[in-house]
Amino acid sequence: MTTAQPLTHETVLLAEAVQGLAVRSEGIYLDATFGRGGHSAAILAKLGDSGLLFATDRDLRAKVAAEALTASDARVQFKHVEFSKAPDWLASLGLQGQVDGVLFDLGVSSPQIDEAARGFSFQQNGPLDMRMNQQAGQTAAQWLAIAEEVDIANVLYQLGDEKFSRRIARRIVETRATQPLLTTFDLVRCIVEATPRQDPRKHPATRSFQAIRLHINRELDEITQTLAQVVDLLAIGGRLVVISFHSLEDRIVKNFMRDESTTDKDFFGQPVGTARLKRVGGSVRASAAEIARNPRSRSAIMRIAERVA
Ligand SMILES: C[S@@+](CC[C@H](N)C(=O)[O-])C[C@H]1O[C@@H](n2cnc3c(N)ncnc32)[C@H](O)[C@@H]1O
Repeated sequence: MTTAQPLTHETVLLAEAVQGLAVRSEGIYLDATFGRGGHSAAILAKLGDSGLLFATDRDLRAKVAAEALTASDARVQFKHVEFSKAPDWLASLGLQGQVDGVLFDLGVSSPQIDEAARGFSFQQNGPLDMRMNQQAGQTAAQWLAIAEEVDIANVLYQLGDEKFSRRIARRIVETRATQPLLTTFDLVRCIVEATPRQDPRKHPATRSFQAIRLHINRELDEITQTLAQVVDLLAIGGRLVVISFHSLEDRIVKNFMRDESTTDKDFFGQPVGTARLKRVGGSVRASAAEIARNPRSRSAIMRIAERVA
């Protein structure tokens, strides 16, 4: 259960995200998904001595990397929490309405996928864990041991768009009646056995692994809940930059930015309330050169908005 992969993360849309944040040298920024600090390093390179960078990540390895940075750079503060806790953290420091930019680079980091022991990869055998925070919550194995068949099927269908969701859920429940699913390959076996037609271009476990990961880490709830609070942190002119890797995530971000940048009208066509954001440009995707260098960037989509009221 070891891996020969280098456990590094190649930051996606690095220059584009920092440009999207329009970093000012004396500004205050939040990198909500620190990872290995690729975006943070580029933000810090543009910050002067009076600038501040706050960062969060729920992964323990990210915490180690961030603590090395906070020890050497007084402009950086890090909290090992889910990013839904970041708005309260910054508000408790009196920074409501003071933050010049917030960045979310969603999803998993390459080291999380590449390390077999994390259980995110269907290509390597490891414990069926899939938690981003290895210290909290239910593992995928624990959830699959007790979840109702219908709930497993719904997760696979709704979060993975898996057309064989019912068959796979049935196979999981049949299998666990005689032996628990403890490893990634235990789960892969169930999925392969339950998939009647396989697409030669896509591993049959791709969608189910993605769905279970999103469920275990409550990824869509986290982004929905946090976006709703993060606008209050931003100063007028402050930027919100979100990079998504999944169409469900991107839909949440796109709808949020659209709704927050639209002024509602009453029955008589008069504006009600004020839009708090304005969208900046359209969606941004990785260049052909970046995709060639880092295939993971192929599915990245970045959206930018600015606080206006
Ligand atoms: C794509 S990586 C970020 C990489 C980073 N931008 C870099 O350049 O190194 C996503 C990171 O977000 C973290 N993450 C995802 N959802 C989170 C959440 N709800 N709360 C805190 N961290 C989260 C993951 O643990 C992972 O380290």
